[in-house]
Amino acid sequence: MAAPPMASLLFSVFSLVFLGEGRAFPTGAPQAPGKCRLEGTWVNELGSRMSISALDEEGRFSGSYLTGVSASQNPIRTSGLSGAQQQGPQPTFSFTVQWSFSDSTTAFVGQCFVTESGEETLETTWLLREAAPSHAQDWKATRVGKNTFLRLK
Ligand code: BTN
Repeated sequence: MAAPPMASLLFSVFSLVFLGEGRAFPTGAPQAPGKCRLEGTWVNELGSRMSISALDEEGRFSGSYLTGVSASQNPIRTSGLSGAQQQGPQPTFSFTVQWSFSDSTTAFVGQCFVTESGEETLETTWLLREAAPSHAQDWKATRVGKNTFLRLK
């Protein structure tokens, strides 16, 4: 068989490398994920539910949090939260929960992702500060952990 002309050979190489023709190489850039939105109702792996209101023009929001677990002996009640998010398709954010049934405060930081299957998820890390009864007990008053939230509504 005669060798293909140089122009044809060059075109084949170009189309394989730059156009992904024939899928010889994965040449396409990763698909840009959809925008992840914080507004709505979310649940985490502890059974905690939170609702986040519409964000204002500077990304601030408020909402409510019903925790599924507690370190306090008091009956669990719905508590208020407030926070802010950054810009971008998969924004970082922070919020604090002022517990209505204990003297503790929790600060969450995280990022809102759209997974490869198209689901929105919030990956967070939290610090839970309880009210130490004395300065001497300050050292054991802060817990740290991670929560993943999935959208309910
Ligand atoms: C308290 O125990 O004093 C208040 C409730 C704390 C609940 C914590 S906050 C971090 C973790 N994530 C949850 O959804 N609940 C627990």
